[in-house]
Amino acid sequence: MRKKIVAGNWKMNTSLSEGVRLIDEIKTIINQQSIKPNCEIIVGVPFTHIYAISQNLKETSIFVSAQNCSEHEKGAYTGEVSASMIKSVGASFCILGHSERRQYHAETDEIIGKKIELALKNNLTPIFCCGETLEIRENNTYFKLVNSQIENALFNLSDEEFSKIIIAYEPVWAIGTGLTASPQQAQEMHYNIRELVGSKYGNNIAHNLSILYGGSCKPSNAKELFSNPDVDGGLIGGASLKANDFVEIIKSM
Ligand code: PGA
Repeated sequence: MRKKIVAGNWKMNTSLSEGVRLIDEIKTIINQQSIKPNCEIIVGVPFTHIYAISQNLKETSIFVSAQNCSEHEKGAYTGEVSASMIKSVGASFCILGHSERRQYHAETDEIIGKKIELALKNNLTPIFCCGETLEIRENNTYFKLVNSQIENALFNLSDEEFSKIIIAYEPVWAIGTGLTASPQQAQEMHYNIRELVGSKYGNNIAHNLSILYGGSCKPSNAKELFSNPDVDGGLIGGASLKANDFVEIIKSM
């Protein structure tokens, strides 16, 4: 059975002490409530926080993710952080291909594909992000665009490798804008992604793939979004920085 997942994406927010405080708040609130079986919770924190937060979360079932990794294995790449370094400080997931990386750091499908391979090689589970801009949404080519992002970055993986991937559909027009895809818009794209994956990797792998929705997901819309048959949880930006909101979203799984 595929997992339901809520993953926070803190982006470039919080000092280390603020981040630890946020985690402590989340742990306190979550302890009082039950998390359903087969549901996974992940926090995507800045590189600088991974070690301390992984230590803090050791006795819990909350996992730590990085938000990026280098497309190179190691070497003379000043300022870069490799997948093996990320693994060595305690993360088990890595968000890759986020639209902010594509937009501000010129990450192409090809670069993202290299990062995916290195993450997998270092036992990090990739959370692969895809999604269309407003312009693409309005000219009705969003299925084509999202399919090409997935095909270009992921479809050279073996069955075994692909079965480790998590996909997050994040329409760019909904990220941090307060605009959310309607439950119908999310469902039809998630269904399309599962069909595409099924056509390449077969129904079993497609059925077990967790596909998360991201883009202004919050306590007031999470339940409706997550109740769709192909929406397996969310990648949460802004609302993951507020312990109460994040836990409310977790409870919506
Ligand atoms: P948002 O961000 O929830 O603040 O819209 C989502 C994301 O960028 O992953």
